[in-house]
Amino acid sequence: MKILGIETSCDETAAAVVEDGASILSNEVASQIEIHARYGGIVPEVASRQHILAIIPILKQAMTEAKVTWSDLDGMAVTIGPGLAGSLLIGVNAAKAIALAHKLPITGVNHLKGHIYANWLVEPSSDATPLFPVVCLIVSGGHSDLVLMKEHGDYVMLGRTRDDAAGEAFDKAARILDLGYPGGPAIEQAAKSGTASIQLPRAWLKGTNDFSFSGVKTALLRLVEAGKVSAKSEAAASFQEAVVDVLVTKTVAVAKEYRVRQILLAGGVASNQLLRQWLVKNSPIPVLVPELKLCTDNAAMIAACGYYRFQAGKIDGLDLDVVPSLKLA
Ligand code: KG4
Ligand code: ZN
Repeated sequence: MKILGIETSCDETAAAVVEDGASILSNEVASQIEIHARYGGIVPEVASRQHILAIIPILKQAMTEAKVTWSDLDGMAVTIGPGLAGSLLIGVNAAKAIALAHKLPITGVNHLKGHIYANWLVEPSSDATPLFPVVCLIVSGGHSDLVLMKEHGDYVMLGRTRDDAAGEAFDKAARILDLGYPGGPAIEQAAKSGTASIQLPRAWLKGTNDFSFSGVKTALLRLVEAGKVSAKSEAAASFQEAVVDVLVTKTVAVAKEYRVRQILLAGGVASNQLLRQWLVKNSPIPVLVPELKLCTDNAAMIAACGYYRFQAGKIDGLDLDVVPSLKLA
């Protein structure tokens, strides 16, 4: 089954063709990062205009790269939320137009579930395919969620952030340190030439599976304001360790408590090398991490999630709409 995936929830216009929820035939991403970097963050109106310009070229590119025509496709999977309303609308309306013109079924996909399904984008029958039950740590610009999955389509929310998401915390810390946008890669790069010598607080929120990252961000801000940060690289390394320490410790604890077979990492922050390494090193339970370029926003993960929705008979009508604040569970 060949699925065309479409993703426009934030600042990447993406299209991909994926076979049987696992094999990537194409995975094209038009990034707007350079445009938004000028403003230090995403400007929603600019994002939707860029999606309008990029959507048709990126769809053509994905089809050409995959060497498919419309008649080779079995369906489309499109992100309906969570995300920016004006951005989501471009992808959803493109999918509806194609559905009408080429009589292809559509399934609407939750962006966060898409991130989880990046873990299924491996060679079919390879031993890297996830085995249920799993605990997923989804860490992106808007979310830090711990989710239990006992089977496809079955999500139980175990914990979430109470304030800033992990990626948001990285973005804010980078702004405090004047390291540029997007903050995660900037902090990771700066941290390479520093040691984590600054003591920063960790919010453990004992007795819960929730996270909180606003305290560590404020602690960093106070140190900078007091002129106590002499090297940005040390501040970046210390901040990165503080965030990764909490993410890893709490994820391993939850995975043990629920006796899962595997831990799946997902979302843009999952491309952070320290997080990947520490989680693998500190978990007695096997950890799966998607390939780097599948961690940040892309459409292959949406197509993979869509494949399992089609398998479960979840087909949407042309009244499909965007849900900017869509919940995972
Ligand atoms: O999943 P994603 O691409 O978009 C959302 O759905 O939000 O995640 C973007 C977030 C941004 O906050 C970005 O700073 C963070 O992921 N990020 C990273 C790294 N690469 C991206 N955070 C830490 N380390 C990285 N290498
Ligand atoms: Zn995302």
